[in-house]
Amino acid sequence: MKLIHLTDTHLFADREGSLRGTRPAPSLDAVLEHVHEHHPDFHAVLATGDLVQEETEAAYEHFIRFFGDYDRPVLCLPGNHDVPELMQRTLAREPFRLEARVALDGWDVFQLDSHIPKSPAGRLGEEALERLEAGLRESAPRPAVVAVHHPPLKIGTAWLDRIGLQDGPELLELLSHHDHVRALLWGHAHQNWDSRQGHIRLLGTPATCAQFLAGSPVFAIDKKAPPAYRVLELGADGEVATELIELSGATESE
Ligand SMILES: [Fe+2]
Repeated sequence: MKLIHLTDTHLFADREGSLRGTRPAPSLDAVLEHVHEHHPDFHAVLATGDLVQEETEAAYEHFIRFFGDYDRPVLCLPGNHDVPELMQRTLAREPFRLEARVALDGWDVFQLDSHIPKSPAGRLGEEALERLEAGLRESAPRPAVVAVHHPPLKIGTAWLDRIGLQDGPELLELLSHHDHVRALLWGHAHQNWDSRQGHIRLLGTPATCAQFLAGSPVFAIDKKAPPAYRVLELGADGEVATELIELSGATESE
């Protein structure tokens, strides 16, 4: 099963909208062109939040213009820049899937909501963790991927570590008890991360627009880092193979 992970599309209502020297819409176009050319056999897309930069219905309508005619599921969860209620309402149509658990060809994808109103940081909360625990008990032994906007661990970029997932340690502890969880995916940090904790592959994917400078103590854009997405090959035996695709030359700076 081939899953395309993309994140932090940061769209404005206006296609010309610009953020940190990059126009998110043409940048997303370049990413999706690459997906369709090189991975036309994908089964689903997973977008892990910050779908929009502008908190308006028109910005979500813009997101729909990119994905609305897909004949395969487009899974979406909210980031700090999203408005969960607005997102739920505007994306309440095919091919969008916003449920907490989506079954895909032998695998389950658990989508978590870490949005805190008016805060760039993230938190799941005890109830959400309990619901996840119950869902994971029910879904075993089908292999599972868990997705959330905020990084669940310190990534070594100080300003981002202050606005990560506040209950990330609790999430990682919970997942460590469920052997069928094979990967945890996130966005938000606009940079790559690839590590492992026991049976779980920990994967952060760069944005489809501008990236942040890894390791910087203060906010900084990595001007050399291109838009990116991740391909995940999820095997019937629970194996996870992944490739990070960086679109060198596609960055459109002003
Ligand atoms: Fe974010």
